[in-house]
Formats: sequence, structure tokens, C-alpha cells
Amino acid sequence: MLNKNSTLTLHTGRTMPVMGLGTWQLTQDTTETVAYAMDIGYRLIDTSSDYGTQPGIGVAFKSSTVKRNELFIVTKVEETDDTYHRALSSLEELDMDYVDLLLIHRPPLVGAGEDLWEGLIKARSEGLTRDIGVSNYSIDLIETLIAKSGETPAVNQIEWSPFGYSQEMYDYYEDNQIIIQAYSPLTRTNRIDDVTLNQIAQKYSKSPAQILIRWNLQRGTCPIPKANQKNHVEENINVFDFEINNEDMGTLNNLNEHYSALGSLAYV
Ligand SMILES: NC(=O)c1ccc[n+]([C@@H]2O[C@H](COP(=O)([O-])OP(=O)(O)OC[C@H]3O[C@@H](n4cnc5c(N)ncnc54)[C@H](OP(=O)(O)O)[C@@H]3O)[C@@H](O)[C@H]2O)c1
Repeated sequence: MLNKNSTLTLHTGRTMPVMGLGTWQLTQDTTETVAYAMDIGYRLIDTSSDYGTQPGIGVAFKSSTVKRNELFIVTKVEETDDTYHRALSSLEELDMDYVDLLLIHRPPLVGAGEDLWEGLIKARSEGLTRDIGVSNYSIDLIETLIAKSGETPAVNQIEWSPFGYSQEMYDYYEDNQIIIQAYSPLTRTNRIDDVTLNQIAQKYSKSPAQILIRWNLQRGTCPIPKANQKNHVEENINVFDFEINNEDMGTLNNLNEHYSALGSLAYV
């Protein structure tokens, strides 16, 4: 049975919590929101060098009783960065010795980001991060990185919800053990009023957001919903006391229309 402390195993053998908190646009509420999230059991926090939330996450961690090895921090470097040095400056902002997962935020305009990837490999070899991965990458670009470096990304963080996902990418993830981390798992609320979604939510006495999160959990993909409001932070982790049955999972799978809240999907 899945619970708050359940983990996914990366191909490197390390583990990652099954869900986390996204922090894009948390801005000045970061410290309070992240501290509260850690208090109620969130153990994975997603950030990026361009979110402005790294300092607040660091302060929240320092003020909590959670130990560093119980927490999983994901951050990202930009495609225009010197990735190794950006990793160092992110650690300064977080006031931490290492992150758990360092991602290339998005592929560069040309190529697969081989140089960026080399910087991440160096950062890992010097202990700045435990694992490395990518974000917004297509299968082709991932294959190019692997062919050039011999190094498989542990994670691909991409937009992912029942309304927008790729079966091909999902099959690839299963075959290669590259975990899909699902961003904008709540469609940034744009599809939260969908009739079918709401019918299923009613059936389980859960909210539409909880159904979207649970859909990811049951498929082994790792949702990172963002929430500023305390009741949302709480609601989003209250997803371990029910299970969506196979028929309803099938109905949710059929909602796929390759919808993207951000305007484009890396895999389409
Ligand atoms: N790698 C990338 O390129 C990339 C791109 C986008 C996002 N991300 C990451 O993924 C995280 C999540 O994605 P996202 O922020 O785009 O969108 P999201 O998590 O799908 O949606 C966030 C929105 O949903 C609302 N919400 C949260 N819980 C809710 C609930 N239980 N009921 C109703 N509404 C709820 C939030 O409201 P309140 O805030 O008011 O509570 C906020 O407006 C980001 O924060 C970021 O960490 C990564």
C-alpha cells in the first residue's frame, strides 16, 4: 500500500519520495509554506535556480526538525548556464551541502545539451548532487544524451496529467527506469472543473485535485503539485487513504488530449 513515506527507486539505486511540493511562484510565502509542508509530511521539494525560492526553502529546512537525509531537494540549472557553477550558487542559496537531484531545466535551442550534461556529471562527481536528470526532454534528446555520455538521466521532469501525457514516453520510462516527475499535475487548475474528473472525485469523496495526484501515484509517476494555500498543501498530501479502481483509472487515462497548461509538451 502506498503511504506518505513510500518511495520510487531510481536506476542508480537511490530512492525518491513518491510525491513532492512544487515551489514555482511561491515567492515571499516560501518559508512558511515549505515549513508547513515539511511539518505535515512532504519530503520532496522541487525548486529551480530561477524560481527565487531556494533561500526560503533553506530557511524552512533550518527551522524544521526534519533531518537532511530525510529530505529530497530537486533543483535545476538553466540551458544558458555554466551548469557546474550554477549548482554551486544554488547550494549557497539553499545553504545546503548537496541537493538530491539536479536537472537541466530544458534542452537548449540546438543540440541535446551535452555540455550542460557534462557539468552535471562533474557536479555529481564532486558531491554537489546525488543524482542528475533532465526536464522537458523528448525521448530523442534523452537518447542523444545517453549515446554521447553513457549516462542515463535518473528523472525526466515534464508536464503530465490525465489531460496531457504520452503513452510512448510512459512505456519508455518503464523500459529504461527513467522516472517521470509530473509537473503542473493539477493542470494549473485549468481542467479542474472537468465533468468526468468531478464525477470520479465525488465517487471517492475526494477533490478533483486529489484524483489528479492519485492518478500519478498509481502509475508510478511522481507528482509535484504547487500550493500556496495551507488547505491545498494539506489536501494534496491527503491521498493515501483510498485507491482509484482499474475502471476509473482507465476513464482517467482516456481524458488525454495532449493538453498543456504551459503551451507545449516536450514529447508531442
Ligand atoms: N520543469 C519545468 O519546466 C516546470 C514547469 C512548470 C512547473 N514545474 C514545477 O511543478 C510544480 C507544479 O506545477 P505548477 O505550479 O505549474 O502547477 P500545478 O501544481 O498543476 O497547479 C498549481 C495551482 O493549483 C492550485 N492548487 C493547488 N492545490 C489545489 C487543490 N487541492 N485544489 C485546487 N487548486 C489547487 C494552486 O493554488 P494555490 O497556490 O493558491 O494554493 C495553484 O494555483 C511547480 O511549482 C514547479 O515546482 C516545473
